Amino acid sequence: MAELIVALDVQTREEAVAKIRQIGEPVGFYKIGLELFTAEGPDVVKAVKDLGKKVFLDLKFHDIPRTVERAVRSGAKLGVDLMTIHSVGGRAMIRAAADAAAEFGETRPRILAVTVLTSLDRSDLEDVGISGRTPAEQVAAMARFAVDNGADGLVSSPKEVGALSKALKAGTLFITPGVRPAGSAVGDQKRVATPADAVRDGATHLVVGRPILAAEDPTAAARSILAEMTV
Ligand code: C5P
Repeated sequence: MAELIVALDVQTREEAVAKIRQIGEPVGFYKIGLELFTAEGPDVVKAVKDLGKKVFLDLKFHDIPRTVERAVRSGAKLGVDLMTIHSVGGRAMIRAAADAAAEFGETRPRILAVTVLTSLDRSDLEDVGISGRTPAEQVAAMARFAVDNGADGLVSSPKEVGALSKALKAGTLFITPGVRPAGSAVGDQKRVATPADAVRDGATHLVVGRPILAAEDPTAAARSILAEMTV
């Protein structure tokens, strides 16, 4: 069964806690990204955990292996459930993240790799020295590289998840943003899929922000997305 993760795209811990309380029981998993973490720090992670919810800490680490290893350990101590790294950080960095997480046994954070940011196109890749591959080819190559070096899963667009889930070993996690319930506003997302399509294609976790956060009744919006996920 795929899980729903709500993106806590708010600016303060107070707003985050109020949103989680308002959404209530149907949602058990929240994503804390750079904006909220930079504003509020580990206290916001603790606040979400104290409400009995799981945390996806999306800070996309990319640094030398020792630094990433220690940052993953810090996240694990906070009780974080999912964390992100950039696959372009290299083999040793990915391994360092996976090894640091593994120290925490069953409660370890699962390490997710970002392959190619969806904001980058072919000419952006060329700017940073990646030529001769389309973004889709680069995604496929980096996905395999990350998983082969110990990543538990990938952050992937709903348009990529079908091919990736077929190509990679069973048990790989696929976290998919860009999900929009049938008939809802897409906002600035360009390549969206419905919850049912994303799950059918192999997504194990869907990340949804505005369709729930901005809904008049966020609990009802979450319930309806959850219903769309049972395919
Ligand atoms: O509001 P919305 O549902 O578009 O929010 C999606 C969340 O997933 C945001 O936190 C956004 O930063 C994140 N995300 C994304 N696309 C990516 C990677 C992350 O929308 N490629």
